[in-house]
Amino acid sequence: MTFNNVSMTYPRLTPLMAPWVTSLISQQELLDQAFQQYGSPLNIHHTPAFADNYQSYVAVLQHHELRHQIFFARKANKCKAFVKEAQRIGCGIDTASYRELQQCLELSFEVDQLVLTAAIKSEKVVRLAVSHQILIVVDNLDECILVNRIAQELRMSARIGVRVSGFHSGGQQLYSRFGFSLDQAMELIIHQIGPDRMFEALRFTGFHFHLNGYSWQERGTALIEVIQAIDALRERDIMTEFIDVGGGFLVNYLACKEEWHTFIETLQCAVRGQHVPITFLNTGLGFEMVHGQLHGQLQTYPYYNELPREQFLEAMLSYQNSQGEAVASLLRTRDIELRLEPGRSLVDQAGTTLAKVAFRKHDSQNNLLIGLEMNRTQMTSSSADFLIDPLLISSTVDTRSSEPTFGFLVGAYCLEQDILLKRAVVLPRIPAIGDIVCFPNTAGYMMHFFESEAHLFDLATNLVLIHSEDTQVPLQLIEDI
Ligand SMILES: Cc1ncc(COP(=O)(O)O)c(C=O)c1O
Repeated sequence: MTFNNVSMTYPRLTPLMAPWVTSLISQQELLDQAFQQYGSPLNIHHTPAFADNYQSYVAVLQHHELRHQIFFARKANKCKAFVKEAQRIGCGIDTASYRELQQCLELSFEVDQLVLTAAIKSEKVVRLAVSHQILIVVDNLDECILVNRIAQELRMSARIGVRVSGFHSGGQQLYSRFGFSLDQAMELIIHQIGPDRMFEALRFTGFHFHLNGYSWQERGTALIEVIQAIDALRERDIMTEFIDVGGGFLVNYLACKEEWHTFIETLQCAVRGQHVPITFLNTGLGFEMVHGQLHGQLQTYPYYNELPREQFLEAMLSYQNSQGEAVASLLRTRDIELRLEPGRSLVDQAGTTLAKVAFRKHDSQNNLLIGLEMNRTQMTSSSADFLIDPLLISSTVDTRSSEPTFGFLVGAYCLEQDILLKRAVVLPRIPAIGDIVCFPNTAGYMMHFFESEAHLFDLATNLVLIHSEDTQVPLQLIEDI
């Protein structure tokens, strides 16, 4: 089969590649040394990409003359390198656990540059936050009771943001397990928080929400509802400093719109039985046949999209209320600070995962399986699959096969399901043992969110790529510590 024939049968999903990844994968000696020292897989990070992404948000916020603050949601990636880079460039950190917060405090972050949004707040993390006067985003009344009690014990007050949800969009109420309804939040802020009230040690500072999904329209609607609540509070002389809109700003992973649509159409045909399977055991990634009809929808991240990052923010700020006033103008005229907590999009193109080929075999259905020295928890998000083409980097010139081929990448856990990508991947040839497979753009959730140490495998080592302006100085990889 020619490469074109294989590609026509198994649709390609060409990734957007950062130039630093292209130059890294051409450095065979550097990579060999790193694998020898740290094993496989390796996560390699690049902090300048983080700074560029941050600046792209700042530019939009400045253009709209909005008071603003950006907090990196570090749950998207565990590396300290990004936290240090955030500190260097003036970006705050959204922390979701005791250790996330403690590490930031150890790095001497300014108190105002940190926020605690943890979904479950232990007494220990609340004590740490209150004692350092870190803003705590409260989700429910039990948390208010806990934060109030700890603040009283410490003879301090606690700055709180109130998380809200249940906004209305497209004629429906958006469900969330998080937050108060706006009505409950108003009751809390007007009647229960502050001196001589039930929660006398709490100080209301602002509203917070984080919406599931990737709709800028829903975020626009939510902002308008919160701004109405802020106006009602102002009439009672209760001032609101900020609205924090959480994260969810899109990332575009793919170079080509047509490839994305072709992939979805081909997947649907395969699930209907009208095309050879293009996924492992013909898994539908959300599509399924019920009584002879195709049902469902793609249950993956929208890997191709046309309003990523700062364009998504721009669209959200341009969203208009029923009087035709844009969100940006509503915020500006009220002098409300807009806060963002991007996670995935701040580490867009800032990390890649590399793994060694361990074996090649054919299964009983004659599928080529390529075993990699990694497991699927080392490249997994909540999405049903990571829909990008990996790159094959040759260790040697393999004489056995130079024919283009397709196959499935499989991992080290003893599970039938330890399939690294459910989609069949097209490769220029059967890989050789010791070849490297590169998965681009994995820093946002893919490499860290679900990683586990089952079978006592070590977690992947996180390395940071250092390069100088001077192209004569060789690239360097250092441990993330
Ligand atoms: C409260 C909160 N803020 C920010 C984020 C970051 O979202 P994203 O990485 O999609 O930008 C999350 C993600 O779950 C979140 O729960």
